[in-house]
This record gives sequence, structure tokens and C-alpha cells, in this order.
Amino acid sequence: MRIVAVMNYKGGVGKTTVTANLGAVAASRGLRVLLIDLDPQTNLTFSFFSVDDWQENLKDDRTIKQWYESEVPGRDVPLADLIVNPERANKALLNTGGRLDLISSHLGLIDNDLELAARLGGTTTLDGSKRKFLDLHNCLRGALEDQRFAEYDLVLIDCAPNFGLVTKTAIVASEKILVPAKADYLSTLGLDYLGRNCSILVQQFNDYVNHKPGAGGYRPIHPGFLGVVFTMVHIYSQQVVSAQHKYIEEVRLNSQVPVLGSKIRNSPSHFGDTGGSGVPAMLAATGRDIVVSEFDELVDEVLEALALQGDRK
Ligand SMILES: Nc1ncnc2c1ncn2[C@@H]1O[C@H](COP(=O)(O)OP(=O)(O)O)[C@@H](O)[C@H]1O
Ligand SMILES: [Mg+2]
Repeated sequence: MRIVAVMNYKGGVGKTTVTANLGAVAASRGLRVLLIDLDPQTNLTFSFFSVDDWQENLKDDRTIKQWYESEVPGRDVPLADLIVNPERANKALLNTGGRLDLISSHLGLIDNDLELAARLGGTTTLDGSKRKFLDLHNCLRGALEDQRFAEYDLVLIDCAPNFGLVTKTAIVASEKILVPAKADYLSTLGLDYLGRNCSILVQQFNDYVNHKPGAGGYRPIHPGFLGVVFTMVHIYSQQVVSAQHKYIEEVRLNSQVPVLGSKIRNSPSHFGDTGGSGVPAMLAATGRDIVVSEFDELVDEVLEALALQGDRK
């Protein structure tokens, strides 16, 4: 099982669209994919379930909020009990051999994030605080080691655009980090900051793991960047428009985060109408068009980097 966190400090850069469609295309190639929505905005969840359906069937006892809100996340409810199977998307996956499951988010997750941070700050002894740091930061990683997750090939975690404790648990749980970004100044500005903050987290986590006493039982982490995938790229005469090309090259040359070869163009006709259908655009697309090909290339690149094999249609 491979675990990938999808994140960027900026909202509106295509994180959720990439997570839903990457997961859907990977599933259409026969992989068993689990999506985890860790953004309190709950957009990934609403790409698969209507708001009414969520209110009625998921809101009260089938979201990640229930999991993060116990004193130690997961103490009251096993993570695997929260898995749901979005029906419409899986109908579109019939005969592919793949499946797509989801752990849904909740608008109230933002409160859990603050409570967790307060709990972390509330420890007084150094050994106690190291232990608490590791217990809290490792919670999602530990939970995903449950046998019930062994049936998945790929887990994609859609993170909130912040570096709160919930996002940190996703980084600790992940082998790789995928960073969707728009090719503009504000979206590329935060990339190195993100890289630095991830390194600081990894270093602190591993320092605590290595410096016992009080921290036994945890293993060091080594999440790496899968890379930046530029989204909503404007193409004119088969070329990236020059203003965006400039930002992409700048990141390619100067950023510590690598840039993937694949890009996703701006296509309001595919992605403009989010939600509603319950089926990600790349699964709903009937013919092979240029955007479908771009997503296919992204999936090729991601699966290859993760050493996963799927059957390309
Ligand atoms: N390639 C694209 N072309 C056109 N619109 C897009 C594309 N990717 C995403 N969008 C739209 O841009 C908005 C933000 O995308 P979203 O995936 O929700 O970003 P994030 O999760 O980073 O906040 C959404 O309305 C989405 O439908
Ligand atoms: Mg989002």
C-alpha cells in the first residue's frame, strides 16, 4: 500500500480535483484506492456525495471528525470503520476491477485541529511532551497499519491548505507528497516554505524517535516530494502561455521541490461544474480528449514513482 499526501498552502490550486481524478483514474486501471478527506472544507467528500446524503448518512458517525476528536485520535472508533463506498463513482468503475473508497470529512474538523494543538501544548515534562508529540503526530500512520487497509493499493490524502496538526499527521503517514499548484506568483511562492516546514517536521519527529527515553516503539519517517503538478495551465497554440511558462521554469530551476513532467490544463468544461454528479470528471468523460490524456500521463508518472502497476486502458 502506498500513501500520498496531496497538499499546498494555497487553496483553489486544484488539490481536491487532482485527488479525486487521480484516484478515479488509478481505480479505473484496476487499483484499489482509498481517498481520505482531511480538509474541513469537505470538498472531496462532496465530489462523491450530495450534501443531503452526507447530512443524512455520514455527518453524525461516519466522518474523520469522529476519529480525531477522541483524546488520542482513534481511541473510540477504528479508522477503518469510517470507510464508505461512493456508489455512483463505483458504478462507473464496474468491469475495471478497481474500486474507490472514501473517508469523509466534516466542517467541524477545524475545531479538532485546534483542540489537538492545545493538547500537545498542555504537557509539562520534556519526556512527556516528546511522547505526546509522537503519539499525536503518528496517529494516522499507526491507524493505517490496521490489516483492514492492506487491501488498498493506493491511499490519497487531500489535505487542508495549512500546516496544522491534522495536516502534519498526514505528512507523517505518507511516503510521498504531491503538490498541485497554479503557475502564478502566489501559488509558487509558498513551495519552498512548504518544503522547509516538512523538513522541520521530519527532523523533529525523527529526533524524538531516536532520543529515548519515553519515545520507544516509533520508527523514523522519510516522506519525500513526488513533485509539483501544475494545474489550470493556460495553453495557447499548443504552448503554455509565456507568463505561466516563466513561473514553471522558475520553480523547475530554483525550487527544492521537483516539478513533474505532466501538467493539467485549464478546462472549465471538465472541471468547472464541481459536485453534483458524484463521478469525477475523468471517469465521466466519454471520449479520449486532451485533458483525459493529460490526466493519464499524470497517473502514469505517479504510479511509476510509487512502483505501482495499473492496466492503462
Ligand atoms: N484543470 C482545471 N481547469 C479548470 N478548473 C479547474 C481545474 N482544476 C480545478 N478547477 C476548479 O478550480 C477550483 C479549485 O479547485 P480545487 O480542486 O477545489 O482546489 P483546492 O482543493 O486546492 O482548493 C474548483 O472550482 C475546480 O473545479
Ligand atoms: Mg480542496
